[in-house]
Amino acid sequence: MKPFPERTRRGVTAVYRHPVLVRLTHWLNALCLLVLLLSGLQILNAHPAFYWGEVARFAEPWAAIEAKPRDDGELRGRLVVAGASFDTTGVLGASAAGGEQLQARAFPSWLTLPSYPDLGAGRRWHFAFAWILAINGLIYGMFAVLSGRLTGLIWPSLAELRTVPRSVWDHLRLRFAHGDAARGYNVLQKLAYAVVIFGLMPLMLLTGLTMSPAVYARLPLLGDLLGGRQSARTLHFLAASGLVAFFAVHIAMVVAAGPLNEVRSMITGWFVIRREKVKP
Ligand code: HEM
Repeated sequence: MKPFPERTRRGVTAVYRHPVLVRLTHWLNALCLLVLLLSGLQILNAHPAFYWGEVARFAEPWAAIEAKPRDDGELRGRLVVAGASFDTTGVLGASAAGGEQLQARAFPSWLTLPSYPDLGAGRRWHFAFAWILAINGLIYGMFAVLSGRLTGLIWPSLAELRTVPRSVWDHLRLRFAHGDAARGYNVLQKLAYAVVIFGLMPLMLLTGLTMSPAVYARLPLLGDLLGGRQSARTLHFLAASGLVAFFAVHIAMVVAAGPLNEVRSMITGWFVIRREKVKP
């Protein structure tokens, strides 16, 4: 990959780190994932339980969100994971929309699209944005491969992988690279982006396709590969949870590294290189 174009004005150096195609696909990707998450939770509300294997037995799910009345009649929400049960009233299982009474609802209205129960609308949002995400990902992927961005900026080298422990220690102390070292991504950033691009996103797409009866009927191999349709549904949810976890860490790192410079770089393309502090 060619070095980033750079300019220096009044002693401040900026590198053109994000070409317009990367910026556009990045923000469209973030919008798609938001719509997919909210509409996915609307769909999940129809049957908030997870199984492994080919068919749902409607008994002994490995994880489920339930609503059950207490002895005094008050509704309680519960999250059950591998036999362990947690009271989640108010958020999961039983929640109130707009100050009303508690209702049986796996995910609350503020976490679903649409906010009211409507499985059909949730599916339409989900499938429309899944296609936009897939096409957007394809465009980004082709650009990243052809421009050398994937190998030059994102894929970590073996030598870099050896520096993971030091980079973890630096991150724990909130010490981020300055000067020339800040021209590219650090090894943890590279690993996180690689896991998203090569792991979580393809897994989401593959498991999503496996859940489609039309695709599954034509490609039963997908089911064999993933251990059945219910396993695909579980893996789809786990991949989405992984992306939510990535999102939380991603935002935290953007804030810690300097949100103005970071977010501005994803809007204008230009990333300002801070000078290394000269040690006395
Ligand atoms: C779940 C949604 C998101 C995903 C999957 C995601 C993923 C990514 C990926 C893969 C990159 C590297 C792209 C490349 O260089 O080719 C990146 C960079 C970046 N993202 Fe996100 N992103 C998401 C949401 C956001 C949001 C909401 C913000 C706003 C705060 C944000 C801010 C940034 C910034 C500032 C960079 C550039 C970092 C740098 O140059 O040091 N991202 N993101």
